[in-house]
Amino acid sequence: MADPESLPALLRVLNGERVDPPPIWVMRQAGRYLPEYRELRTRSKSFLDFCYSPALATEAVMQPLRRFPLDAAILFSDILVVPDALGQKVWFVEGEGPRLTPLLGETNWQLGDPEKAIQRLAPVYEAVERIKANLEPGVALIGFAGGPWTVATYMLQGRGGEKDEARRAVYERPEDVDALINVLVETTAQHLAAQVKAGADCLQIFESWAEGLPPSVFQRVIIQPTRRLIERLRTLGVTVPIVGFPRGAGAQIGAYANETGINALGVDTQTTADFAFEVAPEGMALQGNLDPQTLVVGGNALEHAAREVLIAFKSAPHIFNLGHGITPQATPENLAHLVRVVKGGV
Ligand code: CP3
Repeated sequence: MADPESLPALLRVLNGERVDPPPIWVMRQAGRYLPEYRELRTRSKSFLDFCYSPALATEAVMQPLRRFPLDAAILFSDILVVPDALGQKVWFVEGEGPRLTPLLGETNWQLGDPEKAIQRLAPVYEAVERIKANLEPGVALIGFAGGPWTVATYMLQGRGGEKDEARRAVYERPEDVDALINVLVETTAQHLAAQVKAGADCLQIFESWAEGLPPSVFQRVIIQPTRRLIERLRTLGVTVPIVGFPRGAGAQIGAYANETGINALGVDTQTTADFAFEVAPEGMALQGNLDPQTLVVGGNALEHAAREVLIAFKSAPHIFNLGHGITPQATPENLAHLVRVVKGGV
């Protein structure tokens, strides 16, 4: 067996080891707060075309790593490539966000074919291979996908914002919603397995819209599908650790951490480290949870907030991260400052 000390720090923590200072990466670390990303982004007219260009996606991943000594790279892609590959129309409106032709506008939902979707996603796996070949050995590569419910809500409503319509659909058209989620579970499992085959060292499931669900619905549309997704991944031969990030799930993160089969829990901004520690299985790695707004403000406020996070997660295997994605208003200088603070320890 390989010397465990030679494993990237992020993977050691995912295996349950406490590493001091903790490894750090930042959700959405490639993106619009970097001037070089904004420049690169102009080379492709549509955001999806950008995602499907292995050369552009690889360059976007490498940009933050050239500036900051981060412990992980995350594939540059989007959770909405899955509906796109399933045949739903997906586009991005500048300054507003994603749009899809909403399933809720149709009587009969065309759900698409998982096998075909995976064929269409070939450029994503090519990007993973290229990224892997570019990384230093100590930097772990994270593959990702959206959680089944989060992707389903986009497909149902055609956009972000309030999720009331998607939630009503769970009651009004339960069989249709189950069928949709089943297609997403299968497609997402194959999508993640293909990323691992191409070189991803670990995986993250972004269940970004986990808030506002009563426990029975949370079980039905989040916990059970995620459990099936992870079981399916394991039957496909995937052994790498999986981080689940149920943003906004509040009191239900314990059920999520214990019942889905995830190996590490992403903790959002509003959740206390103590609560996560208490409800997660013993020894589970926790990832989080600095307020992304501190990276807009910088200075002492950033430093103070970062130290609070370091202290709060001191007794757990911890991966330092934000509690949600970095915003376009954050500055590269502030992120550089944060990495210095974290690498310096408490
Ligand atoms: O660096 C990384 O983290 C990897 C790349 C990544 C993107 N999206 C790139 C992106 C990842 C992991 C995602 C995940 C994603 N996409 C989520 C889950 C995480 C979260 O934020 O909750 C969600 C909900 C989406 C859907 C999505 N894609 C939205 C809501 C938006 C609009 C955001 C905005 O502020 O406009 C996108 C577009 C998107 N995805 C951008 C990037 C860099 C910006 C578009 C651009 O650069 O033109």
